[in-house]
Amino acid sequence: MAKNFDFSSLDSAALAISGLDEDLELTLPHLYNALSLLHQALGEASWVGLYLKKSDRLLLGPFQGTPACEVIPFTKGVVGACYTRNEVVAVPDVSKFPGYICCDAAAKSEICVPLLQQGNVIGVLDIDLPDLHEFEKDEIFYYKTIAEKLAKYL
Ligand code: SME
Repeated sequence: MAKNFDFSSLDSAALAISGLDEDLELTLPHLYNALSLLHQALGEASWVGLYLKKSDRLLLGPFQGTPACEVIPFTKGVVGACYTRNEVVAVPDVSKFPGYICCDAAAKSEICVPLLQQGNVIGVLDIDLPDLHEFEKDEIFYYKTIAEKLAKYL
């Protein structure tokens, strides 16, 4: 499967994101910049954003990319699976994922990482890529590290 981005860009984005401080007044600006850095690293055609728990469903939060589905039930899609299982869900080919929710016909692969606060899942970091993509261990590690940082800004 083709890689649609340069791994070193992801490394640089992760480094820049990890360097953001935890100034309480700057949490949202940091969150937006972190998502922008990740989006730039993954390419213009990627989509990166958050779905956040609000009562009994997940709502679209800050994101970079094309407009997306605003509401996702816990039981639906890659996002819902990540949330309910409380684990990373990596989908190399979205057409093979039962219950996949298509927000953008250009998306071909997707990975969701739980956002945790004090051990509780409060939402999901969702990443869509425009190519079929086998997610690698190192790459997943970057996404988990970034999700950890993002959760501090929420
Ligand atoms: N494809 C997701 C829906 C959200 S969008 O990718 C932005 C899913 O199946 O849950």
